Formats: sequence, C-alpha cells, structure tokens
Amino acid sequence: MSHRVAVLAGDGVGPEVVAEARRAVDALGIAVEWAELPWGSAWYHEHGRMMPEDWAEQLSGCRAVLLGAIGDPSVPDHVSLWGSILELRQRLDLWANLRPCRLLPGVPGPLAGREAGDFDVLFVRENTEGEYAGVGGRSHRGLPGEVGVEVSVFTRAGCERVIRLAFECAAQRRGILTSATKSNASRFGYVLWDEVAAGIAGEFPSVRYERVLVDALAARMVRSPDSLDVVVASNLFADILTDLGAALQGGMGMAASANVAPGTSEIGIFEPVHGSAPDIAGQGIANPAGAIWSAVLMLEHLGEADAAARLLHALEDVCRDGPRTRDAGGTATTVEVGDAVVAALATAQAAT
Ligand code: NAI
Ligand code: MG
Repeated sequence: MSHRVAVLAGDGVGPEVVAEARRAVDALGIAVEWAELPWGSAWYHEHGRMMPEDWAEQLSGCRAVLLGAIGDPSVPDHVSLWGSILELRQRLDLWANLRPCRLLPGVPGPLAGREAGDFDVLFVRENTEGEYAGVGGRSHRGLPGEVGVEVSVFTRAGCERVIRLAFECAAQRRGILTSATKSNASRFGYVLWDEVAAGIAGEFPSVRYERVLVDALAARMVRSPDSLDVVVASNLFADILTDLGAALQGGMGMAASANVAPGTSEIGIFEPVHGSAPDIAGQGIANPAGAIWSAVLMLEHLGEADAAARLLHALEDVCRDGPRTRDAGGTATTVEVGDAVVAALATAQAAT
C-alpha cells in the first residue's frame, strides 16, 4: 500500500532541508506518494492568507505532513505562524509534540566533557493549549493606556492526556519523568498541571516522577543532562527548552519533532524544530539532519518501523563519519549531506 504524504516545504531553508528528507525517504524503497502544498509566505503575498480556506479538505487522504518551516521577514511572525502551523496543530487537535533530543556520536556538542550517551532526552510538549491557546486581546490601540492580554489556558483533560503519554514514554525508556512548571509564581494553570501529574504518577509505579521548576530545569539541562530521560512541559516551556535541547545536541539543524494525536487515526505533522533560518536561506548550507530525523518519526507514524530504523541508522552513520554541514563542524552543503545519507542507505542495503 502506498502512503500519501503532504509536503509543506514552506519558507527559507524549509524547502532545502525537506528536499533531502524526501530524497532519503524515496531511497528506502517504500511506496510514498507525495502531494506538494505551495503554502507559506509567498502564497500569503498572492492570496492574503497563509493557507487556503479548504486546507483540511486538501489534507484529507494524507496520513502525514512533512513540513519544512514557515516564516519570512516580509510577514509578521504572529501572522505567519498563527495562519499555518499553530492553526494546523490546534484545529487538527495534534496535542502532543514529541521532540527527541539526543547527541549523536560524531556530532560536536557544546558541553565540555560530554559526549553521545550523556544527552538523550525525549521532550513531550503540550501542543494545543497553555500559553499558546490563542486567547487574549488588544484594546486602546496606539494610546498610552494600550493593553495586550495573553491568557494561558490549561484544561484538566488537556493536561491529563499529554502527561499520561509522557509517563507511557518514560515507562518504555529509562523510567524517569520530569515535569516542568512554574507553579511557585503562577498559581493556577501550573498548579492544576502539577496536581494532574501527581495523580497520574500513581498509575506508573515503575516510573520515577519528579516535579521541577522550569528555570531550574534549564540550568540542570546544562549541568547534568544525563540525569534526564523524559521531560513533559507546557507549550511555551517545552518550546524554549527544546531550543536549548537542540543546542545541546549539536545545533538547531539537528533537532526533530512530531506533532501527533496518539490513539487516534489523525494525520501527523513532522517538522524540524528550527525555523526558516532567513540568515542562511538560499545558501545551500542548512543542516538537513533535523528534517531527515523528522522523516524517521514520520515513518514510525506510518507503521514503517523497519524503514524508520534504517533511515535513522543511515543518519547516525553520516553524523559519525561525515560529511557535516558548517553548524555541525564541517564544510559540506545540504545536498552533500543528503547524498551521503542516500549512499549510507545503499551501503547498508548491499550488506544485507
Ligand atoms: P531559526 O530556527 O530559523 O534560526 C535560529 C538560528 O539557527 C539561526 O542562526 C539559523 O541560521 C540557525 N539554524 C536554523 N536551522 C538551521 C539548520 N537547518 N541548519 C543550520 N543552522 C540552522 O529561528 P529564528 O531565526 O528565530 O526564526 C526564523 C523564522 O522562523 C521566524 O519567522 C520564525 O517565526 C520562524 N519559525 C518557524 C517555526 C516553524 O515553522 N515551526 C519554528 C521556529 C521559528
Ligand atoms: Mg520553537
């Protein structure tokens, strides 16, 4: 059976890194039918919106979206993100954002004395509510008394599903779940989150549950990253922590993510953690590793576990042996890294 996958390459380096992820998937020998979506900032300038009104119909029949990045200096970021990726996550109810942060062998990490094996954390990010619920408003525009209100929304159901998923992930890994909030200074939403987490902890006696304050966790990620296994956090907190996590795993270009609704047949959206990187777009030097790793997560979602494992091994081989892009300590271009991944797949295939 062929998998129908939508490709939303988007803006900036998005198309550059997605092209390599797509080429790697094609080299696996599984049947994938790609449906290209031209949406993004250029589309906005033509149509006055980031995506067509009937985007949901256009996605029907697809089990996954491979996304590059959205954002261009010519469109305000809150317009481009709320018109695309945030709209997709919320409207499709893709409530979990899984972000594996692992320092791969060969990739230079920034922490002295730390190497692969010292940093392997799965971040489970709440993906539809919290600080990015989209609730708020502006009034008295332009006046000295102008007001901007941004309301965080935490629901019991929303906390429960994402925290339970994180416990399940921890039970499958090294058995440690760290839940990050800020329930000393913020007294309502994060306190509800903490109560829900403490309640669910009782269902998972094999998992060591700990509650930490997010600021202290940021410091701990640098001081003792090997003490962490699975981290669950709100939309904003996990957004920030996973940029730090990306840096610790060798740079923004390394990090991958899956937007999913586990337990449903809903479409999943797979995208590198980084944005459109306008500062290096068009130069052919963006690291495609995060996009290729996101394709690995996509293949797992499609039930192609064997292909996913083969692609991850090929990516690991290339990270270990090179070539690498500039951000990862090398001099290679995006396409040269993509070529190397395709070659590593062929070598592995020939060896079996
Ligand atoms: P960014 O992640 O695009 O860039 C931050 C830094 O990381 C830059 O120095 C960039 O050169 C570097 N970088 C990013 N991806 C890289 C790669 N593949 N290889 C090598 N280096 C890489 O974040 P920034 O600059 O804050 O945002 C740029 C635009 O992207 C904005 O419009 C923002 O709204 C958007 N954005 C979109 C996201 C999405 O589509 N999900 C996520 C984050 C930002
Ligand atoms: Mg982010």
